[in-house]
Amino acid sequence: MKIFIDTAEIEEIKPLVELGLVDGVTTNPSLILKSGRNIFEVTKEICDLVDGPVSAEVASTDYKTMVEEAVALYNIADNVCLKVPMTPDGLKTCKYFSDQGKMVNVTLCFSAAQALLAAKAGASFISPFVGRHDDVGQSGMALIEEIRIIYDNYNFDTEILVASTRHNLHIIDSALIGADVATIPPKLVHQLFKHPLTDSGLAAFVADWEKTGQSITD
Ligand code: G3P
Repeated sequence: MKIFIDTAEIEEIKPLVELGLVDGVTTNPSLILKSGRNIFEVTKEICDLVDGPVSAEVASTDYKTMVEEAVALYNIADNVCLKVPMTPDGLKTCKYFSDQGKMVNVTLCFSAAQALLAAKAGASFISPFVGRHDDVGQSGMALIEEIRIIYDNYNFDTEILVASTRHNLHIIDSALIGADVATIPPKLVHQLFKHPLTDSGLAAFVADWEKTGQSITD
């Protein structure tokens, strides 16, 4: 499963790139606002830092303006993946650019029916928001299972990009179900490293090594 980082903060992406964990990045208007950066400048910096797809989202909701915004966003770098909302205008924009071989991520997906429509419009990625689904008392992961079955039934190329991930189980379950990508906030990536037995085991090894009085580097 590929890991995308869900942030527009350059300083959070850099250390994860050094760890070899970053297959792509996703941003959205709220993350751009949080970063306090200009969308063109920060998207260019992220695209220079990361080899994989970098999702940049349109701000308008009508087809004509979405297409104009898309041209400007695609011009930032070759690895820009346009992000459009799961609406008729969004899917029309998706089809227009996917027909030209451009990457498109359809966002704000909350049903398997929406995921089916996005795949038919040629989306490269569908972004079901599992955390927000859970928030309203529905199962985000059940939605991922449904989409996996539907896409496999018809051999759709659209990749399932699990978004709005909030905790470790969202990531583990995504991998068990066979989602193609999980986009993960940096804080959650760091949380995935953690296990109390790793910490206590390492502390014991360090303490015992000190008692040997040896050095590996001298
Ligand atoms: O990738 C979508 C994500 O940014 C939304 O996450 O936590 O605001 O639901 P959240």
